[in-house]
Amino acid sequence: MAGRVEGKVAFITGAARGQGRAHALRLAEEGADIIAIDIEEQVEEVPYPTAKAEDLQETVRQVEALDRRIVAETADVRDLGTLKSVLEKGVAELGRLDIVAANAGVDIVGPWHSMTPEIVRTTIDINLIGVWNTVMASLPHILDGGRGGSIILTSSANGLKAGPFNMAYNMSKYGVTGMAKSFAMELAKDNIRVNSVHPGGVDTPMVEGIMGVPDSGFAKGSEENPNLTGMFTQWIPGMMPPREISNAILFLASDESTWITGHALAVDGGLSQY
Ligand SMILES: NC(=O)c1ccc[n+]([C@@H]2O[C@H](COP(=O)([O-])OP(=O)(O)OC[C@H]3O[C@@H](n4cnc5c(N)ncnc54)[C@H](O)[C@@H]3O)[C@@H](O)[C@H]2O)c1
Repeated sequence: MAGRVEGKVAFITGAARGQGRAHALRLAEEGADIIAIDIEEQVEEVPYPTAKAEDLQETVRQVEALDRRIVAETADVRDLGTLKSVLEKGVAELGRLDIVAANAGVDIVGPWHSMTPEIVRTTIDINLIGVWNTVMASLPHILDGGRGGSIILTSSANGLKAGPFNMAYNMSKYGVTGMAKSFAMELAKDNIRVNSVHPGGVDTPMVEGIMGVPDSGFAKGSEENPNLTGMFTQWIPGMMPPREISNAILFLASDESTWITGHALAVDGGLSQY
């Protein structure tokens, strides 16, 4: 039986680990080839480790084990020129581009007075302008194909309902929600759909780095402002495996969602729905 995205090519940012790797594997399982990027240097300002070169290599190994092709390169989503070169190479090798999962992101948590200009700038540069760079570098290739395509921007539950002690992240993720709708409107005539996905708490190194440490920015915020601590709670208890988000990405990437565009799809156990 043909896979749900058989013969298509997907570009995924932040693909070395966490949700990005899960997206690469889920789409590869359903027949897509992958162009993957991640950063290999620690992102300044981020208090938890960002991905390493060996993490991206592990994604390559796992995609190839599914018998799919993958072009994986180191790139920073803040660098539009490098994204363009990676896509030139990837499309030359794999033949086309149909799907984009703009997933790379960082989260630097803490009370409002801990947010330095550098933290705000880094967060906006990666989470918002980095997503815009990803789409801008991808669009010429999707348009060249003349077959349309599907672009999925990873926002967050924080892009629908602001979470406490997360000022810069909330700003960036609300921006992504608006960006998806803007691209969706203008690209509908070219049969390119653009949607945003809004995860709740997903079990990845990001959350481990934010919540799993005793003196986290979240703990500091809660200490001085305990009223806000419980406001960002999922109705479904527990932490989601990354594959739950990948299933939403797969649906939006596939021809099962042909008439869905400009939509903000929450996959967050109810968190943002009140
Ligand atoms: N984990 C959650 O609970 C959660 C919830 C809502 C939204 N999100 C969003 O989901 C996306 C994926 O996060 P995750 O949970 O897999 O965390 P993660 O930290 O495991 O993965 C993020 C990936 O992005 C990469 N990255 C960071 N900055 C980059 C840059 N400048 N250029 C290229 N790559 C870069 C990191 O190296 C990492 O591999 C992010 O956009 C995040 O904001 C996560």
